[in-house]
Amino acid sequence: MKVIETVAEFRSRVAAVQRPLGLVPTMGALHDGHLSLVNRARADNATVVASIFVNPKQFGLTEDLSSYPRDRDRDLSMLEDAGVDLVFAPMADEMYPHGFDTSVDVGRIATRLEGEHRPGHFLGVATVVCKLLTIIRPDRAYFGQKDAQQSLVIKRLNTDLNLGAEIVVCPTIREPDGLALSSRNRYLNPAERKAATVLLCSLKLAEGMSTSNADEIRRQMRELIGAEPLATIDYVSIADAETLHELHLVDRPALVSLAVRIGKTRLIDNVLLRPGA
Ligand code: PAJ
Repeated sequence: MKVIETVAEFRSRVAAVQRPLGLVPTMGALHDGHLSLVNRARADNATVVASIFVNPKQFGLTEDLSSYPRDRDRDLSMLEDAGVDLVFAPMADEMYPHGFDTSVDVGRIATRLEGEHRPGHFLGVATVVCKLLTIIRPDRAYFGQKDAQQSLVIKRLNTDLNLGAEIVVCPTIREPDGLALSSRNRYLNPAERKAATVLLCSLKLAEGMSTSNADEIRRQMRELIGAEPLATIDYVSIADAETLHELHLVDRPALVSLAVRIGKTRLIDNVLLRPGA
């Protein structure tokens, strides 16, 4: 496995690799959720590239950029064991050299949910993913359903700017008790870790409800989460799975998603509801 830190070296190497090429973009602090994307990419492609870049542009001023977990040696050995061929791991000034002044604004899909609660977040995500797809030119790029809105934003970006990758969205990997794997789970103390299971419990409640009244489902989810003293709701959403418009009636595929703070740690999760399925 070769680790490359500059755009110029990456470009010259990638010209010679076997196609198809699959890309797994990450911010490091890898876990089995990331590895599930690598495994899928390994199964689908002749060459697998992973990127590790903690993208400063997608963190808000009050967010955890400086404390975001970084463990390069562990990440690289996990990627090597998973059969990755090339790792692109640039420094911030390689991606954003002096004078960098462009950002990619994907539009309406990026304004809802996470976009509303984390201003500027998707500008940062779309800008870096646009750069990665342009530098690496993958045939396929792999993203997690865990970040459902991010996957929708990236599909829109890839289509609208003709970036030419197939965007593959892979299922959410969970702990045995249902908590979605996330680099941020390590911030939870034991009491918070236990409280965090309320996210999936409320999503399961939504899945199990026989009504298609979205307002009633949201109400019951909020009530369940509200009963957990360590939890504070950022949002609970039941939205059209393609446009992310909030629904009153679940009469089409719907994304049930939520962002909840457990103590100081902000967690997100989601499930898809398919009426009649
Ligand atoms: P990061 O949070 O490191 O996640 C990298 C990829 O792993 C994303 O596509 C994310 O959806 C996926 N992922 C995370 N947890 C997962 C889980 N439990 N199951 C399945 N997939 C999971 O998302 C980012 O980085 C960044 O925004 C990035 C796209 C790299 C741009 O900077």
